[in-house]
Parts: sequence; structure tokens; C-alpha cells
Amino acid sequence: MIDKIKERIAEAEAFDAQTKEEIEAFRIKYLGKKGLLNVYFAEFKNVPNDQKKAFGQIINKLKNTAEEKVNTLKEELDSKADVKGIYGDLSRPGEPIAIGARHPISLVKNQIIDIFSRIGFNVSEGPEIEDDWHNFTALNLPEYHPARDMQDTFFIQTDPDILLRTHTSSVQVRYMENNTPPIRTISPGRVFRNEAISSRSHCFFHQVEGLYVDKDVSFADLKQTLQYFTTEMFGKSKIRLRPSYFPFTEPSAEVDVYWGLETEIDHRITKGTGWLEIMGCGMVDPHVLENCGIDSKVYSGFAFGMGIDRIAMLLHQIGDIRLLSENDVRFLEQFKSSL
Ligand code: PHE
Repeated sequence: MIDKIKERIAEAEAFDAQTKEEIEAFRIKYLGKKGLLNVYFAEFKNVPNDQKKAFGQIINKLKNTAEEKVNTLKEELDSKADVKGIYGDLSRPGEPIAIGARHPISLVKNQIIDIFSRIGFNVSEGPEIEDDWHNFTALNLPEYHPARDMQDTFFIQTDPDILLRTHTSSVQVRYMENNTPPIRTISPGRVFRNEAISSRSHCFFHQVEGLYVDKDVSFADLKQTLQYFTTEMFGKSKIRLRPSYFPFTEPSAEVDVYWGLETEIDHRITKGTGWLEIMGCGMVDPHVLENCGIDSKVYSGFAFGMGIDRIAMLLHQIGDIRLLSENDVRFLEQFKSSL
């Protein structure tokens, strides 16, 4: 009998299990109500007295061995479950990564930068809070010049010399002061004007202005550059230049691109004419070159400036300029598929 129990002990020691069910079956087999341990206990009374001690010891050993086995197997299984808990089910499909969208202003700005960089223009930036010299005086708009009224300026109350720039022409002044021709630069940025906010206009908006200064730069160069730009940007090469006035350019012109009158939207955005005004331009006034330390007898140049917001509204069919600054994610998410 004792040998039989010893065999059982060896069996119990060798036992291994992978599942809870296997462990439970083992427990029932050894330690359950009708389990081996109870069966051997029942034999106890039939064992001769002189063997009772040895028999009792061996049964105890079986009991301890079986109990220990059940406990260690359970612990092992639990710790395996923990590892699984950290990493989860590795075969599950991954969590989708939320992709952001570029702002339509940035999309259009990047497109414009890309087009001009292909013909040798670099990008320059300057401060949004400017001084009078860079925003006005250097650009041929001395104090009390009536053309200052064209741009409803936000002044910093405590210092009339400091203002929010009304155009990024101020960046061009800074660029000319710090660089020598040949100059080919575009200046994108936010500008501010004290205008009533409506669906068509805002007190801040975005511009890209361009400047080209070198020997023998002519109006024909300007026109050709603009033609290249409109073809690349809009796929439309028919443009016209209407005489206009800017204090810092002479002669000056307003650029219209022929948009066409094919759809109802074309009619609406061109007010029934087919022509769309997109920017101002002109030959840099020699005074401006001199103000910025460039010899106007040697060098000439052209400049142009356009509003990004209106172009973005046009290209993406946005009906209200205020949407561009409200940061409503329902609006912004629509541009995910754009470049
Ligand atoms: N600075 C002008 C504006 O803000 C645009 C412009 C730039 C016009 C350069 C001519 C030349 O309206």
C-alpha cells in the first residue's frame, strides 16, 4: 500500500497543467471528497498498529504534495494571464491613428510658395507688430500722406509709432535693407486692418507679397511672372492688368484673371463678368529702393501682393471668411484629403 502511495506522490510531483480545468480535475482526483486522499484515509483503520505512523506520514506527504502542486500551478497560470493583460490580444486590429488636416490657408500658402520657389524666389518673414517706418514711411507713405487712409490701421495707443502691419510689404522693406540685389523673395504672413467683420472681410487676413529687384527688371518681366503664376495656380493663363495706384509702385496695376462663366458659381464670384481680381502689383518706386539703401539708378524691380483668404475661399468654395478663423473642427476636418 505504501508503495502505491509513493507512486501517487511521484505522479503528483510530475503533473503539469495548462488550463484551469486541468488543475481542477487534478485537485478533485487527489483532494476531492471522493479523491485518492480520502480513499487512503479510509484505509487507515485497517492498517496494523505498528505501521500506522509510517502510513500516516506518507498520506500527509501525498496531501502536501497535491496541495502544493495545485497552488503553484494556479500561480503560474495567473502570472501568464498578467502578461497577456499588459499586451492585450496581439492579433487584434490596431487602433486607427487620427490624422490632422492642414488649414486651408496653409494649403494655399504652401501652393503659392511652391510655385514661386520653382522660379528662384525664397521665403522671407517679418514681425506682425511693426513700426511706422517699415509699414508706411519707407514705402513712400510719409506722415499725413492721404494714401494712409486706404489702410485702416490698428495703432498701439500708447505709442503711435508702433502698429499692427497692414500688409507684408513691410517685410520687403526689411529684406531690402538687409540684402543686396539680385533679390527674389516672397513674404507670406498675417496682416491687420480695422474693418468691420462680415462674411466677406475680417480685421485680419493673410497675404503673400513678392519682390524682384535686379538690373534691367521690366514691366514685361512682371507680366510674364504673373502669367506663369496664374497658369500654375489656377490653370488659367488669360490675365489682364488694369492701371491702379499704390504709393510704393509706379506704374501700378490691378491683376484680373479670366475665370470663365461656365457655372453658376463662376457667375457669382466674378459678378457676372468672368474676370476675377486677384492682386495688386507694379514697378517698385525708385524712392522706395533708395529708402532701403538700393541704388535706383542701377537697379529696378517689381512687386506684387495678394490675399490668401480670398483665394482659399475661391478654390475650396468657402462661403464665409469667418470660418477660416473659428477653428471649428467640423470645418477643418474637411481638408484632410488635400495636400
Ligand atoms: N501692399 C499692397 C496691399 O496690401 C499690395 C501690393 C503689393 C501692391 C505690392 C502692389 C505691389 O494692398
